[in-house]
Amino acid sequence: MFAFIRNFAKPRYPYSADFLPTTTTRIPFKFLATRSTNGPRVVFGLPPTSSFSTSTVARMPIKTAVTELLGIRVPVIQGGMQWVGVPKLVAAVSEAGGLGVLTALTQPSPEALRLAIRETRKLTSKPFGVNITLLPSISPPDYPGYARAAVEEGVRIFETAGNNPGPLIKYFKENNCIVIHKCTTIRHAKSAERHGVDVLSIDGLECAGHPGEDDVGGLVLLARAATELKVPFLASGGIADARGFAAALTLGAAGVNLGTRFMCTVESPIHQNIKEKIVASTERDTVHIFRTLHNTARVFKNKVSMEVVKIEGKGNAKFEDVRALVSGERGRKVYELGDPDYGIWTAGIAMGLINDIPTCKELVERLERETEEIVLGVARNMFGVSVVEKAKL
Ligand SMILES: Cc1cc2nc3c(=O)[nH]c(=O)nc-3n(C[C@H](O)[C@H](O)[C@H](O)COP(=O)(O)O)c2cc1C
Repeated sequence: MFAFIRNFAKPRYPYSADFLPTTTTRIPFKFLATRSTNGPRVVFGLPPTSSFSTSTVARMPIKTAVTELLGIRVPVIQGGMQWVGVPKLVAAVSEAGGLGVLTALTQPSPEALRLAIRETRKLTSKPFGVNITLLPSISPPDYPGYARAAVEEGVRIFETAGNNPGPLIKYFKENNCIVIHKCTTIRHAKSAERHGVDVLSIDGLECAGHPGEDDVGGLVLLARAATELKVPFLASGGIADARGFAAALTLGAAGVNLGTRFMCTVESPIHQNIKEKIVASTERDTVHIFRTLHNTARVFKNKVSMEVVKIEGKGNAKFEDVRALVSGERGRKVYELGDPDYGIWTAGIAMGLINDIPTCKELVERLERETEEIVLGVARNMFGVSVVEKAKL
């Protein structure tokens, strides 16, 4: 615990925690439950406004290496999402102070991506990025074409994900772009670091989409990232509220990457029925498919995904055996028609934390405000550090 306090004092700690101890002086670790009638709810959750409110003190922006590098107000990134990461959502996230990310492969061609970038620019003057996901494929999309189109359109922030990102990272770096590489293992993170990425997005087992094959959760991955990576990193997977955001910062992350949570916002382009389905679902409503094909994906648990799991369970399944069930077109129709059983669609266990359909502005502001309250509440209630007291020093 004392090492924890010393960490706060490290210059590379990724947020400007002016209210936190600036020396390595040992502050007794006091468990509030032993000295307050409010009990542990205050320590581990949002402090009740009556006992503690940040409204009495000046708001402190959550400044990190990532907010500085990307030129955004809040270190909240909306990860690339096939069929979902379109101009309307991307611009809304960026306008709200986070970083919206367009999904290149949602556009049918590099030329269509150009138009999507221009459309996004009409909706926001704030920074936004483009995701390029390198999928295992017999006939791969025109990755260089998508990358070139985005660079020529003036995009300077890219999220890369998937296999062999080296050449893409090299191209972006040669063109003075910022690269956030998303991966699910520390060894891949270190490899991307060697390729010169600026930020790593560490996707734990909790994430929607492809969690890799190692099944390591965010707690362990992020703690390892904090000790072993040289570049700033984002926490990704299973984060949908301020508790997750605060925990990520405490683990050393310089921000968070959210997918499922942004799917379920007013500006998200998916059918209202699917948003309501996410709200009604819990953390138990996802399933891993493609496990036996070594290309695991976390998707919504429905008739189609359970059929895929059944076929895989018979043994020796080949992609051909499930191709028709998992077709991307069917997945896209889920979002268009609003029928959650029409095909495979991506969602994460963060669904268990999603209870509403806010605008991106409401969501980002809520994340910012409540994270601040949690971090300040922990500092005050556990360590006896008061912002007001600190300001008087
Ligand atoms: C609907 C949906 C589609 C996604 N598509 C992609 C994609 O095309 N490329 C990618 O790199 N990640 C994709 N992801 C993963 C997200 O970018 C992000 O890493 C992940 O959702 C984080 O986990 P969370 O959903 O628990 O927040 C997708 C996620 C969702 C929910």
